[in-house]
Amino acid sequence: MADDTTAPRIVIEAGQTGLVLAVGDDGRLHQVAFGPGMADRRPVLPVVLYPLAYPTFGEEPLREPALRVTQAHGELSTRLRFEGLSTDAHAAGQVVRVNMVERVAPLSVSLCFRTWPAYHLLEQWIEVTNDADAEITLHRAAATAPAFAGTAPHLTHWGGGWAGEWTETTELLTAGTKTVASAGGTRPSLYRPPVVVVATDGPATETSGEVGVCSVEWGGDIRFDAETFLHGHVRLIAGHQGRGAERVLAPGERFVSPVARWVCSDAGIGPASRALHRFAREQVIRDGTEIRATVANTWEAIFFALDPAVLSTQVDRAADLGAELFLLDDGWFGTAYPRNDDTTGLGDWEVDRVKLPDGLGPIIDHTIERGLRFGLWVEPEMVNPKSALYEAHPDWVISEPGRERRQERNQLVLDVLQPEVRTFVVGVIDKVLQDHPRISYLKWDANRDITEPGSTSLAPHRQSHLAMDRVLATWDLMAEVARKHPTVELMLCASGGGRSDLGTLRWFHEVWTSDNTDPVDRVRIQWGASHLLPASVLAAHVTRWGNRPLAFGCAVAMSGRFGFDLDLTALTAEEWETCRSAAVTYADLRDLVQQGDLHRLVSPIGTTRGAVAYVSPDGERAVVFAFRLPGDDGTTPAFALPWLDGGKAYDARDRTPGPTDGPAAGKVALVGQILVWPVGEPPVASVVEITRRR
Ligand code: DGJ
Repeated sequence: MADDTTAPRIVIEAGQTGLVLAVGDDGRLHQVAFGPGMADRRPVLPVVLYPLAYPTFGEEPLREPALRVTQAHGELSTRLRFEGLSTDAHAAGQVVRVNMVERVAPLSVSLCFRTWPAYHLLEQWIEVTNDADAEITLHRAAATAPAFAGTAPHLTHWGGGWAGEWTETTELLTAGTKTVASAGGTRPSLYRPPVVVVATDGPATETSGEVGVCSVEWGGDIRFDAETFLHGHVRLIAGHQGRGAERVLAPGERFVSPVARWVCSDAGIGPASRALHRFAREQVIRDGTEIRATVANTWEAIFFALDPAVLSTQVDRAADLGAELFLLDDGWFGTAYPRNDDTTGLGDWEVDRVKLPDGLGPIIDHTIERGLRFGLWVEPEMVNPKSALYEAHPDWVISEPGRERRQERNQLVLDVLQPEVRTFVVGVIDKVLQDHPRISYLKWDANRDITEPGSTSLAPHRQSHLAMDRVLATWDLMAEVARKHPTVELMLCASGGGRSDLGTLRWFHEVWTSDNTDPVDRVRIQWGASHLLPASVLAAHVTRWGNRPLAFGCAVAMSGRFGFDLDLTALTAEEWETCRSAAVTYADLRDLVQQGDLHRLVSPIGTTRGAVAYVSPDGERAVVFAFRLPGDDGTTPAFALPWLDGGKAYDARDRTPGPTDGPAAGKVALVGQILVWPVGEPPVASVVEITRRR
């Protein structure tokens, strides 16, 4: 074995997140180190003893491959050797391409990296080019596959399904491969959000442990495989889901994978989340550094029962409460097939003149006269078979010839690979906004998965391209809408949080975090979601779900992008005052919630308490949300606020919503760096503003 410990290294450094590669004597590319502060690592063993930088099928027969190809002449093996390196600058870091070629088959593979040192963030993706004179098939081409050295690797991942998004699991990785993958195509993060946390030496905390947070920026199905090897080491292979999404590459064709993002920290998950949030706000999310409005939505208030007088009263009440945007949800359209429930009308985007005889104009005008902006719900990629659209174009849906078209929520998915369908989808939005130029917000929904995954736009042997091409085509439509209507804000919804990814958020301002608005569940859902998304994009509305005290519901919603989704005419006087005080207080504190640094203080996962804080960048101001959940016995009196400077004095002010000064009034005490929990029967919350004393 050659002693190549002095082999030249390829160092890719993005602040804390560092990757060191080296080429062995045989041309294979190995990973010497990956993780927090690793950029200055040198090989202490012969390079060939380090894991491969990018494992391929046929090279490492015992391990999970990141790349699997059927070559032009049918061979299944892919063995890469290093070919060269190129480095370029981008505005905030470097772009590094590590080029490799197959040893026998005509195939080129580039491992591509973009560094964002200010955010400790490293992006990676893969490019595969078919250099053969015949087609090849790409079964899997993951974006990233680094290995971590450690002693007791743990993986934290999330998922659940409708109303159970972001259910959190942290588990020790034992022998074998743990796969976390989404399915269904159109609302993948309902099942598995595209983010995981790898901790190398036992479960990490918010403030301790070496961690890597990995997210995949893809609007379709994703897949993470965490494979343990060598006594405590773990490799994470991450990217789009390849199963059912195989790609046939023509001669000369190049495949570019979705991007994966890594943020590493040697001081626990908190610093990695804060860096990722900052990156998301400043570099990804549309208008990500702007303050979001307080929304009043009609869905859980009146569902499909729209009526001009009812809507007008809801607008008046919303205005009196301090809401800033009135959102008219589902139910406003359908003529031949009125949308009175979810069985009919989807696809027929004409105003229902039975429900709204004078159209949308009067309610839009009234909303704006009352000082609110107006938003509207659409679901442009879907169709009910009971609709004029489907009667006219039954061939416009994703389907397979001869197979039953199975329905979910009584609807089918339009096939955006067909050019006429793309024109229709953008046309729906163009028309709504042209007819009603005062609409300044759209909720873009998507309420079913893909079954029978076929498209008439694809050749028979390329039907599996639908999985990725549909995402790219949908992204094109979203980009076109964003470009044509730059002042219209967009909410991303898919039966709740089914599209919670930082790929799609490039064209959107926020996500509907979950249809589950029970505030007790929301404490845990929003905790989970905060591992990927900043609070500014996590829409959180006060509803009646779970029949919790409204003061508690308001406090939970105030820890995200605040709003209401309940019948505003049915509030008691006390509830009214609670909601009003919440809206007023939120307007005062939302710069902290939406743009501050998140500190997750006490985990509600598997416990009966949760606490988070949002801190101004200079540490001078903060707002703390503390929640005691049902079953909590109230024993432990207080919790710590780790970011406070022990040498400085701070004041704590109770901002808990309520008809008086709030349930915690007079009981908020800051003792050194400790804050007391709210008292009373759980569920109960406190909202406390902390300011440095001058
Ligand atoms: C599903 C969404 O998640 C809800 O908020 C609501 O918009 C309904 N669709 C309307 O059908």
